Formats: sequence, C-alpha cells, structure tokens
Amino acid sequence: MSKLMVRPMRIADLDEVIAIEQSAYEFPWTRGNFTDSMSAGYTAMSLTFERSVVGYFILMKILDECHLLNIAISRHEQGKGWGTFLLDWCCAHVQGLGCEGLLLEVRLSNDSARHIYEKSGFRLVGVRKHYYPAAVGREDALVLFKSFESPNQAFDEENSL
Ligand SMILES: CC(C)(COP(=O)(O)OP(=O)(O)OC[C@H]1O[C@@H](n2cnc3c(N)ncnc32)[C@H](O)[C@@H]1OP(=O)(O)O)[C@@H](O)C(=O)NCCC(=O)NCCS
Repeated sequence: MSKLMVRPMRIADLDEVIAIEQSAYEFPWTRGNFTDSMSAGYTAMSLTFERSVVGYFILMKILDECHLLNIAISRHEQGKGWGTFLLDWCCAHVQGLGCEGLLLEVRLSNDSARHIYEKSGFRLVGVRKHYYPAAVGREDALVLFKSFESPNQAFDEENSL
C-alpha cells in the first residue's frame, strides 16, 4: 500500500491539522472553522504519509461549482510535490462530482500557492480588494477558476440558440 494517502478527515486528525494550519498561515483557521466545515458536510480530506497527517483540503460544493476553502501542507514538508499532488487529487474529485469548475481565492503575495494553481490550469477571474487581514492593513485576494468543461461543450453552449 502506498505510504501517501488521501482519505476523509477525522475528528482525531484535528490536533495534527491545527498544528499544520498554524505553521502554514499567519492568520490560521480555528478548530471551530474545521469542525463547522465538517459538520456542514463540506468535503474535508487529509493527506497522510506513513499515517501522519501532512496536509489537507476543505471543499464546498454549491450547485454545479466547487469552492476550495483551504489547502495546506505542513511547513516542514512543503516543496516535495505534495501540494501539487493534493491539488490534482482535489481537481479530479471535483471533476468526478460532475462540477463545471473549481473556484478559489489566494493572497496576492502567496507566490508558491499561485504557482501551483497556475501550473494546474487555474485562471484569474477577479480580484477581491482588501479581502484578507494582513500584518499591516488588508491584502487583496485573487479569484481563480479552473474549468472542467470540455472546449467543445463550451463551444456548443455558446453557439446554441
Ligand atoms: C501552497 C502549498 C499548499 C503548496 O504545497 P507544496 O507541497 O509546497 O507544493 P509543491 O511542492 O507541489 O510545489 C511548490 C511549487 O511552488 C514553487 N515555489 C515555491 N516557492 C515559490 C515562490 N516563492 N514563488 C514561486 N514559486 C514558488 C516551487 O518551485 C514548486 O513549483 P514546481 O513544482 O513547478 O517546481 C503550501 O506551500 C502551503 O501549504 N502553503 C501555506 C498554506 C497556503 O498558502 N495555502 C494556499 C491557500 S490559497
């Protein structure tokens, strides 16, 4: 069995998840943000390596679109390709749900996250001004979207009467 595994997040994961969250973000989610997401039925998945949680994502489905609310890899494990692996897994999952696309927000200054999103095919669709708290003032969010519609399908829909 592969040592790297994606599986549903469990309440028992939360101590590890929160430690990662606090190491990964300047303004981390609280335990309540995670438990609320899980009880709301959002997709919450843990990435584990040799049974330890090394990353996770939280995904909210609204009608035929999904919104990626959080994705993180433990600070000590970043740069090994695991963020890209988890994002690919998430995109495949969203596509498997039959969704048209995946939306997310990212800080303007978050170069590594912007890099993996761009590499994965996300495109800029908007900017939310002063969206995030910052050490000084507020920071803009870029709104990115990855479409899972086939080009032909989009063409057919655009051109249908
Ligand atoms: C964003 C995040 C999930 C990426 O995870 P990861 O495991 O480090 O990602 P990978 O190792 O797969 O890829 C990192 C890529 O970023 C690139 N990168 C790293 N630092 C970078 C920088 N300052 N500028 C541009 N690219 C950078 C790496 O070169 C690598 O790209 P490559 O595979 O083309 O060489 C992780 O950094 C993280 O958890 N960050 C904190 C939480 C966060 O910001 N989440 C996103 C919220 S929108």
